[in-house]
Amino acid sequence: MSRFQNKIIVVTGGSEGIGKALVELFLTKGAKVATCGRNYDKLYNLQQQNAGKPLLIHTADVSVESECKSFIDAVIKLYGTIDILINNAGMSMRSLFKDVELSTLKKIMDINFWGTVYCTKFSLPYILENKGTIVGVSSIAGYRGLPGRSGYSASKFAMNGWMEALRTELLQTGVNVMWVCPGFTASNIRNVALNKEGKAHGETPMNESKMMSAATCAIHITKAIAKRKRTLVLTFQGKETVFLNRFFPSIADKLVQKFFFKNGELIK
Ligand SMILES: NC(=O)c1ccc[n+]([C@@H]2O[C@H](COP(=O)([O-])OP(=O)(O)OC[C@H]3O[C@@H](n4cnc5c(N)ncnc54)[C@H](OP(=O)(O)O)[C@@H]3O)[C@@H](O)[C@H]2O)c1
Repeated sequence: MSRFQNKIIVVTGGSEGIGKALVELFLTKGAKVATCGRNYDKLYNLQQQNAGKPLLIHTADVSVESECKSFIDAVIKLYGTIDILINNAGMSMRSLFKDVELSTLKKIMDINFWGTVYCTKFSLPYILENKGTIVGVSSIAGYRGLPGRSGYSASKFAMNGWMEALRTELLQTGVNVMWVCPGFTASNIRNVALNKEGKAHGETPMNESKMMSAATCAIHITKAIAKRKRTLVLTFQGKETVFLNRFFPSIADKLVQKFFFKNGELIK
């Protein structure tokens, strides 16, 4: 029997990409799952594709505190408790800091950082009761600032620091707090990344077919949850970046700059 059998698992942002892969994987493992997103049609499609399985869908924007509260209330009303919370909902951006509107940076921070804080706050009493798990889907950008993604990096650094503090606060309680840092993973994230005006960028300049699939990423995350790991850094390139940045930060500056720029222009 899977260790996730009958566990109540909440995944924010489960209608696309990594979140969707996680929802579907947990359902195959016999868990009772709840997910949210802003777009009802995408959630409804997910539910239709998984008809007959225990899946609660709820329309909520995680950057809005009251919507996170309604989402978690709906989970408790249906399932009675929460064992595992995966704070996955997130958005990226693509714009140099000199050009970007400040409201875009704030929006990214509200979704990626505050969305994680709100959902964790409302779920925590139940997770404490069950000695469960809190996961933050962060990024390599939470270990290494990435150009064109200054707000995204800031939100993921904030997430990592906040989760590390929470992990330490909860060390004696039996709750495991873990932050996961995927490398480049094929998904919708680059299509909907915000441009300097805070609108969807609408195209990905990167080759998605060469990236880790969302399904593979989800398998790594579930294994790490089962092992109650502290952190998970994914992909060879991701591990290399974290290592280089820790021990050779000046070299990392140059390599990252070379990767993202050509002739002074941001190309990725
Ligand atoms: N893909 C990568 O290369 C990569 C790398 C490192 C880290 N990550 C992280 O992995 C997580 C998932 O990303 P992904 O690549 O799977 O992205 P994705 O394909 O764009 O999916 C994002 C999901 O989050 C939901 N979402 C976005 N904003 C939301 C909000 N304000 N409130 C509620 N739901 C929201 C989206 O649904 P709606 O649009 O309907 O709201 C969608 O279901 C993110 O935290 C991202 O930072 C991704």
